[in-house]
Amino acid sequence: MQITICKTPEEASRLAGEIVNNAIKKNPKLVLGLATGSTPLLLYKEMYTACKAGLSYKKVRTFNLDEYYGLPVEKPQSYRSFMNENLFNHLDIDMKNTHVPDGLAKDVEKSCAQYEKMMKAAGGVDIQVLGIGGDGHIGFNEPGSSLVSRTHLVTLTPRTIKDNTRFFTKSSEVPRYAISMGVGTVMEAKCCLMLCFGKNKADAVKGMIEGGVSQFCPASALQYHPNTIVFIDEAAASKLTLKAYYKWACQHPAKLN
Ligand code: F6R
Repeated sequence: MQITICKTPEEASRLAGEIVNNAIKKNPKLVLGLATGSTPLLLYKEMYTACKAGLSYKKVRTFNLDEYYGLPVEKPQSYRSFMNENLFNHLDIDMKNTHVPDGLAKDVEKSCAQYEKMMKAAGGVDIQVLGIGGDGHIGFNEPGSSLVSRTHLVTLTPRTIKDNTRFFTKSSEVPRYAISMGVGTVMEAKCCLMLCFGKNKADAVKGMIEGGVSQFCPASALQYHPNTIVFIDEAAASKLTLKAYYKWACQHPAKLN
């Protein structure tokens, strides 16, 4: 893992935005894996600001990590609505190239297998944007999820339901299930770009970076990913034992002339 501790989420998102936008400059047909939630919002702003300044996203293909199960896409809380509102509507992207798991699929297994097939047919995900749950989840892969899982139907934990209640009027409205890429799916991305902000992520960040690799903290699987870039703010980094070293290593990168 390449770990960068930033002063603010703004700084972290600017650096993450440079990575995504530069990759699109090099490959206009880049395949992006995307996440919802509050974490990537500033990154998405970096992306559509670059687009407004002339970087075309027209040919970029995207695959979202997850979608609530049983929630109509028109609902403002659906992840499709979230993506349209917070990113896609601000880009020149062809909507046909944007994919979100089908939370209304009748045959869920078939639909999940189809989603995996589409990603493969696109050449696989080049950069997967990730946020982390306070319990260490990635996508909707909750603690206890298999680290080799593929896109599948997931039962949400009470904690995730509680965390996501802020987007609904009451907890009983939060769907209990979701369709999510599996940890195994995420691990196939060529690059994982993980952003973590705020002190309520500090335990999860500690587990992801310095804990043992375990399905108890699904994000810890990223320790085995060959190209994971992590941008965290000071608050999210506050429980890291080797925090001073990560900063030192960032200032003195191991590059030979
Ligand atoms: C959402 C997703 C989740 C979030 C995580 C953090 O598509 O995959 O794993 O990244 O729950 O959410 P926020 O960013 O709202 O703290």
